[in-house]
Amino acid sequence: MRGKKRLVIGVSGASGASLAVLLLRKMLQLSEWESHLIISAGAKRTIDIELNETIEQIEALASVVHDLHDIGSSIASGTFKTAGMVVIPCSMKTVAGIAHGYSDNLILRAADVTIKEHRPLVLVVRETPLHSIHLKNMSILASVGVRLMPPMMTFYNNPQSIDDMQMHIVGKVANEFGIELNGFKRWSGPPVDKC
Ligand SMILES: Cc1cc2nc3c(=O)[nH]c(=O)nc-3n(C[C@H](O)[C@H](O)[C@H](O)COP(=O)(O)O)c2cc1C
Repeated sequence: MRGKKRLVIGVSGASGASLAVLLLRKMLQLSEWESHLIISAGAKRTIDIELNETIEQIEALASVVHDLHDIGSSIASGTFKTAGMVVIPCSMKTVAGIAHGYSDNLILRAADVTIKEHRPLVLVVRETPLHSIHLKNMSILASVGVRLMPPMMTFYNNPQSIDDMQMHIVGKVANEFGIELNGFKRWSGPPVDKC
């Protein structure tokens, strides 16, 4: 791809909008990448409930902001080159829409395009407990190569805070696109005194 590489970032109304904010902040440090942000109406609600940042402050972290209802936006077409897409966090409603090709907003359409163009699509799916409809929809998506990355807590790297846990999840998501984020700690075996 000539010029900057583009990552499409959809934010839907599952809990955990802070993960999207962390990813956007980290992407700002990467001069060779452009972030294309779409925020759903559900996400606007969770952002209001869960975060201290306003929508405007979050949108200011992105290179390009796309309107959820603008189905004619660049990222709605497969001819617009991107390196892939992540929906972070990804609600079960958005999972269902992607799994069934029901593309009635720009997050769903951009995800559909990402699949049809055989580009990496990562969904940071978040709900608990999961019922069999959720699982069936995720299974459909896994069968076409979509990467399902629930924001699971990790303990083996000895996190000291929620920030550390979030950094690990976001670092693993970025890794799917070949992006190395500052602050992501890779496992290199147990500490010497535990060997
Ligand atoms: C505070 C809050 C937290 C929510 N958390 C989740 C969640 O973790 N997972 C989920 O699937 N839906 C969750 N929802 C419900 C979704 O926001 C709702 O289904 C919405 O219609 C999703 O639409 P969207 O995918 O277009 O954003 C939550 C809603 C609120 C208000």
